[in-house]
Amino acid sequence: MAAHIEHILEKARSSSDLRYEELVQLLSIPDEQLPLLMQAANEVRKNSVGDEVHLRGIIEFSNYCRQQCCYCGLRAGHSTAGRYRLTYEQILNTAEAAAKTGYRTLVLQSGEDPAISPAFVADITREIKKLDVAVTLSCGERSYEVYKLWRQAGADRYLIKQETADPVLYKSIRPGHTLTERLQCQKWLKELGYQLGSGCMIGLPGQNVQTLARDLQLMKELQADMSGMGPFIPHPETPLRFGITGSISMTIKMLATARLYMPWILLPATTALASLHPEGRELALRAGANVIMPNVTPEDVRSLYQIYPGKLNTEDNMKDYYNRIRTMIESEGRTVAAGFGHSFLPSHQT
Ligand code: 5AD
Ligand code: SF4
Repeated sequence: MAAHIEHILEKARSSSDLRYEELVQLLSIPDEQLPLLMQAANEVRKNSVGDEVHLRGIIEFSNYCRQQCCYCGLRAGHSTAGRYRLTYEQILNTAEAAAKTGYRTLVLQSGEDPAISPAFVADITREIKKLDVAVTLSCGERSYEVYKLWRQAGADRYLIKQETADPVLYKSIRPGHTLTERLQCQKWLKELGYQLGSGCMIGLPGQNVQTLARDLQLMKELQADMSGMGPFIPHPETPLRFGITGSISMTIKMLATARLYMPWILLPATTALASLHPEGRELALRAGANVIMPNVTPEDVRSLYQIYPGKLNTEDNMKDYYNRIRTMIESEGRTVAAGFGHSFLPSHQT
């Protein structure tokens, strides 16, 4: 087994052309061999995307959602959840403060809030673009026309994870929806020239390494520019409350394998991982990650964006938090990127 893994890792150091069986084998390695996998991924990361870590400030501007995702604490069915919606001015003030702090990308994230019009998002995007930042939107499944409107308003990127590449599991955790619809949204976004952030949860009930290998293949097929992968964390007020928390080591295996298989990819050290382990971000950075997405949502509402319990929060103000993360990155021998951190795929390198 060990010799076999070393053989795959040797191949992966010079070619990302890994077969499905090889992906499954990498995801199946015993934890004792995890350092070998991390080391290979770290080398490929250094050679392909360098030492820079890209910081994206996330503004969670509304936690209202019309969807019923079985894993998420913001689902419409969670009737006792405290809900909030930031005003135009609050979003803009937050964006200005974040840009001043040093963020070169701002991510506007929300549930699928029916009270927020497409025009509102377009207007705020246009305004935030004046701050000389890249804008990422993450507002769920919308029509082609809405995505087009937002792209024309200046949005550079869109985050919409596939969540799982298993169509049967997908249907069971997102009632009324199909993986095909999700992938259609992703294809539209690529077609419109967005940089696409996909990703999946790790440790969903019924998932296995075969499914996870398929997740990686699907992201490569779609030429995802970014892949956000974090452990599933059961929320007590959701249908998946009896699920088991996704494992940290499987998350690290997925990150490292993703780096070997898609050397160009922007790979965040996710908040979900950091929420489970005090050094989750450091571990991810050592396994191929090159993005961190600190929360810059105003403090008075921040704790209400409870997708899962125990979501990492900080007492620091925005500037202190930024500096703390910068110090951590530098102590890992890495640097904070000064640029926008656009996709490394050739189609976005102009
Ligand atoms: N555990 C981990 N991640 C979750 N997400 C939603 N619910 C959970 C959970 N319980 C992630 C999904 C979604 C993003 C907004 O948060 O991947 O895309
Ligand atoms: Fe809504 Fe997104 Fe949560 Fe689903 S994952 S319930 S779409 S916020």
